[in-house]
Amino acid sequence: MIVPETTTKLSAFAQDVQNGLSSQPKFLQSKYFYDAEGDRLFQKIMDLPEYYLTRCEAEILQTHAVDLAALLRNQPFDLVELGAGDGLKTRVLLAHFQEKQLQYRYFPVDISRNILDHLEETLQQRWPDLSVFPLEGDYFSALKKMPASEANVRKVVLFLGSTIGNMTMADAESFLQQLRAQLAPGDLILVGFDLKKNPELILAAYNDSAKVTRDFNLNLLHRINRELGGNFQPENFQHWPLYQPITGHTKSYLISKIDQEVYIEALNLTVKFAAWEAIDMELSKKYDFAEIEHLATLAGLKVLTYFKDRKEYFTDALFMV
Ligand code: AVI
Repeated sequence: MIVPETTTKLSAFAQDVQNGLSSQPKFLQSKYFYDAEGDRLFQKIMDLPEYYLTRCEAEILQTHAVDLAALLRNQPFDLVELGAGDGLKTRVLLAHFQEKQLQYRYFPVDISRNILDHLEETLQQRWPDLSVFPLEGDYFSALKKMPASEANVRKVVLFLGSTIGNMTMADAESFLQQLRAQLAPGDLILVGFDLKKNPELILAAYNDSAKVTRDFNLNLLHRINRELGGNFQPENFQHWPLYQPITGHTKSYLISKIDQEVYIEALNLTVKFAAWEAIDMELSKKYDFAEIEHLATLAGLKVLTYFKDRKEYFTDALFMV
């Protein structure tokens, strides 16, 4: 049985669901997409023919590992990866850094202990002499747990995969400002941005023919059912992605196809939906170079270079504090 709020303290997830579904317009936060089923669906998304982002960034890291290694060669560094996950995208960088015998320690940060244990094990098997220090937690609390870097050791922070696109530009600015506050002059940040491009390509990436992205969104309704005792009938909602070429906002909505009421036991909350009322689910912002430059300036960072894939669909921007 799901215990209602009067007898227990609400989890952050429960509070955010309550807040979002009681707001006008209704919204849910896309950070809650990633339960075990959401992680599985996101893995599938990254393999979809339409979802170019992961392949473009893999190409960038593959092609430019040599440039990055050249930049980092002269000084030992602590490599911090925010949201490391299974570390797949970074492995190509690590392989190159190992080959060039760079002096560094690797600090993967993730909220999942499981994922970190698995990552540490596979990395130690492959490179027994690599120093891996997994940090569990959200980005900033994990960064605070880092042992102080020795003098003359700089930090190199990786924030890849266009995760920054899931923030508004204002949130991205304050995120980068907070990050900068934890770093020292000369430290580096490599950030993955998805770029503005042909709207058909962008929309297709969020409206795939196999409907995995639809299921990825609907999984959050299933999650509310599973964890909070909701009675959503996800088939009563339509997935609706949109791309706005001026703001670069790719938005996704779930739209109620009928007048309906949903009850969420843990919140003791009844949510009414009018027919064709939408829940705002996700933002995936696409950037142009002027916006990235502007964002860096607002956050007090200097753009050192842009690493790009051949088609210029994606960039990993290298910032210096
Ligand atoms: C994790 N993030 C960068 C993905 C994106 O492209 O915004 C999440 C995603 N949403 C739908 N497809 C993929």
